[in-house]
Amino acid sequence: MRVLITGITGFAGSHLVDFLMKEHPEVEIFGIRRWRSRTDTISHFQYDDRVKIVECEMRDLTSVFSVIQQVRPDRIFHLAAQSFVPTSWTSPADSLNTNIISQLNLFEAVRSVGIDPWIQIACSSEEYGMVYENEVPIKETNPLRPLSPYAVSKVAQDYMGYQYNMSYGMKIIRTRGFNHTGPRRGDVFVCSNFAKQIVEIEKKKRPPVVKVGNLQAKRDFTDVRDMVRGYWMALDGNCTPGDVYNLASGTTITIQSLLDRYLSMSDAKITVEVDPTRLRPSDVEILWGDYSKFHAATGWKPEIPLEKTMHDILEYWRERI
Ligand code: GDD
Repeated sequence: MRVLITGITGFAGSHLVDFLMKEHPEVEIFGIRRWRSRTDTISHFQYDDRVKIVECEMRDLTSVFSVIQQVRPDRIFHLAAQSFVPTSWTSPADSLNTNIISQLNLFEAVRSVGIDPWIQIACSSEEYGMVYENEVPIKETNPLRPLSPYAVSKVAQDYMGYQYNMSYGMKIIRTRGFNHTGPRRGDVFVCSNFAKQIVEIEKKKRPPVVKVGNLQAKRDFTDVRDMVRGYWMALDGNCTPGDVYNLASGTTITIQSLLDRYLSMSDAKITVEVDPTRLRPSDVEILWGDYSKFHAATGWKPEIPLEKTMHDILEYWRERI
């Protein structure tokens, strides 16, 4: 079986490769990477014969067509995206263009080449946006009320998946991933960012002050290793083409309590300071997912506790700083 991962140099993409090499060594892995994209996440398999990395600019249909024609994958995991919410306010057009047009090009390339792969698309819990108190835990039927250009781009990707299934019968599974984190997470995202700052303080590389944004927000965190196992199961279980599934931990915590847990994991004396540049024009107040529909279709449930994930992220930074 030939598997294509878009965004192989990204956080989830690199963990999906690790999962496949370990659990499904029979699979032929192909990954798309953009010219000059980061390589630190893939250095451990970059030169491994079992993973073939193909250069591709997904915003360019010609480029995507040529990769799809060359690889002719049986399964596609579409993970490539501009995934940092704040960047979508500073570069909204670029975020919308990257996320929506890249996926459009992928779908059109698959149609033009005339193959019929299973395709997982990484949609997001950010799409739920403004969630009211009586709506948690959030089910797939919850209204989508996006609060950022990023969320709008994910709503478009999500509905495009629905539409291409309805119009052409393409075997697309829409996964709405809630927050996921773990080692190799980009240092702008909250878990990785707080851990990195704490380690820099431990190693006397910065003053003993952790800079933070909105600590009142609540998020539902899943370990990335559980999340990529879920992505695989989305195409391997009994999910219905065209349908949408939440992948979540089924719990929620405030960012304040996440920070407090991190601080208790370090011996350093640290104070906390709000950095106004980290506050967003509108932040999603609460994400708390109900993953029972996905569990019923695949049997998936998260296994790694948040404490272990946080510990592994801290260790990741302690080894690097
Ligand atoms: N990044 C960051 N940095 N976030 C902070 C900080 C900080 O210093 N302080 C508080 N926060 C809050 C944010 O305001 C937000 O409420 C929460 O921590 C999580 O922020 P991020 O880690 O940046 O993730 P996100 O929730 O905006 O988006 C992530 O999850 C989505 C799924 O819900 C990303 O991974 C998206 O790509 C993904 O779709």
